[in-house]
Amino acid sequence: MDTSILKGRPVRESRSEYTYVALPNDANPLGNLLGGRVMHLVDMCAGIAAQRHARSPVVTAAIDQMSFMLPIHIGQLVILRSSVNRVFRTSMEVGVKVWVENPQTGEVRHTSSAYLTFVAIAEGGKPVAVAPVIAESEEEERRYHEAGRRREQRLATRNGFTPSTTTSTAELVR
Ligand SMILES: CC(C)(COP(=O)(O)OP(=O)(O)OC[C@H]1O[C@@H](n2cnc3c(N)ncnc32)[C@H](O)[C@@H]1OP(=O)(O)O)[C@@H](O)C(=O)NCCC(=O)NCCS
Repeated sequence: MDTSILKGRPVRESRSEYTYVALPNDANPLGNLLGGRVMHLVDMCAGIAAQRHARSPVVTAAIDQMSFMLPIHIGQLVILRSSVNRVFRTSMEVGVKVWVENPQTGEVRHTSSAYLTFVAIAEGGKPVAVAPVIAESEEEERRYHEAGRRREQRLATRNGFTPSTTTSTAELVR
């Protein structure tokens, strides 16, 4: 039996880093990195930490709001760091911080932060319980407590949303 599900795993065991070169393929008409590309990188980096923590496949259930404080120019480096802030039962909050590095000067600046919720999925496709996360530093403790407040907000938003269904695409554009 995997006893880690009972005793939990420290944040450091799943902390992840991802570095990416902003390439011309990902540019907007002004020659800067597309915001959607940054969001994709954030999802990837967060998903790596979530999967390392859960040791099972995970899906993105929610992404909280995101701001882009600096443009990222083509040729610059995008550095992302992620860690699991808190596990609830089958879901976990992952925080991601994004920096941009000028490879010529080495200057690094913080450009975005985001919180994402991932759900661990068992073989049959149903959500499955995840090992708790163990906060070892003051900063990890702070993130753990703040994640609880953010979850309340998210679930309130989720509860106000009723998915609709239709069998006709024509109905969508009416
Ligand atoms: C996320 C998903 C697995 C939840 O399934 P579900 O049948 O609603 O399951 P539950 O209601 O039991 O929720 C499972 C967990 O997810 C959490 N959750 C679900 N939606 C959430 C949301 N919008 N925000 C935060 N947490 C959410 C629940 O609180 C619960 O957490 P807990 O077990 O830690 O308490 C399901 O909605 C899904 O598969 N969504 C699509 C995911 C996907 O494909 N993402 C890629 C983008 S398309």
